[in-house]
Amino acid sequence: MTRRTDEVRWSPDGPSLVIRGDNLDVLPALPDGVFRLAYLDPPFNTGRTQQRTTIRTVASPTGARIGFQGRTYDTIRGRLTSYDDAFADYWAFLEPRLTQVWRCLADDGTLYLHLDYREVHYAKVLLDGLVGRDRFLNEIIWAYDYGARTKRRWPAKHDTILVYVKDPARYVFDAEAVDREPYMAPGLVTPEKAARGKLPTDVWWHTIVSPTGKEKTGYPTQKPQGILRRIIQASSREGDWVLDPFAGSGTTGAVAQALGRRFVLVDANPAAFDVMQERLGSGTAEHPVVFVAAPASPSGS
Ligand SMILES: C[S@@+](CC[C@H](N)C(=O)[O-])C[C@H]1O[C@@H](n2cnc3c(N)ncnc32)[C@H](O)[C@@H]1O
Repeated sequence: MTRRTDEVRWSPDGPSLVIRGDNLDVLPALPDGVFRLAYLDPPFNTGRTQQRTTIRTVASPTGARIGFQGRTYDTIRGRLTSYDDAFADYWAFLEPRLTQVWRCLADDGTLYLHLDYREVHYAKVLLDGLVGRDRFLNEIIWAYDYGARTKRRWPAKHDTILVYVKDPARYVFDAEAVDREPYMAPGLVTPEKAARGKLPTDVWWHTIVSPTGKEKTGYPTQKPQGILRRIIQASSREGDWVLDPFAGSGTTGAVAQALGRRFVLVDANPAAFDVMQERLGSGTAEHPVVFVAAPASPSGS
């Protein structure tokens, strides 16, 4: 059953929520500091449309915008966005959403921003300016090997996930909880070590969602559960709240559910909402899931 946004509010002991709507409308209704982990997989800026928009200046969150080499965030943003019009539009879309997500993160929370090589370098510098360079924890490279290979340059076969923590002095990172992986050269370590496997590094070799595998939902940009599993195992604990404002097929929710975390997922696309209803069902007795949609506008649009 789908409930209406005006009927359901997030509460610390309430059900997990899957919300259909623009995340910029949904996020302001969520409280400050309640999510241990946020994972954002926004649509990539692949179209390169030269559709110039005016970038708004928004209020600085707790003065964290004094950034790189003492320059203000706005100076950095001005320089970078004047360099690339398409990125300026993309950042105008992302920035207010990132600001909201950062507000909703717990004091010991972690933000994962999943991008590709087209955006990540600009986004890194801007995020450093937005939240503070000292909050940067990692750059994760997710390497895969699928699809055609150009012979004109090195074929691009990776995504990049930027990781920022709200407080570098205390954040959740549970290395013991992370599934280990086989050593590349097991003969070079003791048999005990080889049997235990090694902690993954910041380079993750992982297949894409197999077009014929049981994980596949049919949603075009679906990410593998294995990627989300590492993120959620490391950066949250059982019972914690996890936020995904670009939820797509609901991979974050599926993994969070399996690992005993609660979640809020948001997506504007009705097709994503349908896939998530199918995928997540009503949750478990301990962690139920409620589906919420904004009421239809009077015009029906
Ligand atoms: C790359 S996909 C996410 C895929 C997801 N990680 C998964 O594993 O299925 C990005 C999603 O963001 C959604 N989206 C784009 N703009 C949005 C907005 N303003 N508010 C909410 N969702 C949005 C799209 O509908 C799309 O499903």
